[in-house]
Amino acid sequence: MIRAVQADITTLQVDAIVNAANTSLLGGGGVDGAIHRAAGRELVEFCRTLNGCPTGEARITPGFGLPARYVIHTVGPVWRGGKSGEPALLRSCYENALALAVANGVRTIAFPGISTGVYGYPKAAAARIAVAVMRAHEGEFEEIICCCFNPADKARYDELLAATVPPQEQ
Ligand code: AR6
Repeated sequence: MIRAVQADITTLQVDAIVNAANTSLLGGGGVDGAIHRAAGRELVEFCRTLNGCPTGEARITPGFGLPARYVIHTVGPVWRGGKSGEPALLRSCYENALALAVANGVRTIAFPGISTGVYGYPKAAAARIAVAVMRAHEGEFEEIICCCFNPADKARYDELLAATVPPQEQ
C-alpha cells in the first residue's frame, strides 16, 4: 500500500525513513537537518565513515535517536532546467533507496519529496517520478509513505495516487 501523510518525517514509526541528503552525507538544512537533529550526534559520526554518496545513489545507517530503525540517505539532483539528466537521477534515488530497503528487510518506509526543496526540482514532476517508482515496487513492502510537509504537497500526492493503479488491480 502507498499512502500520503502530512507529517514531520522524523516522527514516523516506520522501519526506515529516507533522507534527502547531499553528497557529503554530513548534514545540511531542510529534511536533512531535521533528521540529523532528531537522530543525534551518533548519526553524523556514523556518516563520516561512509565517505559520501554520489548523486542518485543511496546509503543506509541506523536511525539512532529516531523512532525509525534505519535512515536511508539518498542524494537527489540539483534542478538545472531538466536537460542535465535530472529525471533519471531522481528515479535512481527512489529505485536505489527501495532496493537498499528490501536488502535490509525493511517492510515500512517513508520518503520526503527528494530534491523538491533547496534543490529546486519542480514538485509535480518530482511527485510523478516518485509515485511511478513506488507503484512498481509496492508489492515488496507492507507500506510506502509519501511524507508531505504541507497540505498542498499532500493533495498533489493524493491526486496522483488516486490516478494510478496498484499493480494487482491492473
Ligand atoms: N519532514 C518531511 N519533509 C520535510 C521536512 C521534514 N521534517 N523538512 C523539509 N521537508 P530539502 P532537497 C520537505 O530542501 O531539495 C539539505 O541542505 C521539504 O518541504 O530538505 O533534496 C541537504 O543537505 C521538501 O519538499 O531537500 C542538501 O544539501 C523536501 O522535504 C539539500 O538540502 C525536500 O527538501 C537537499 O535538497
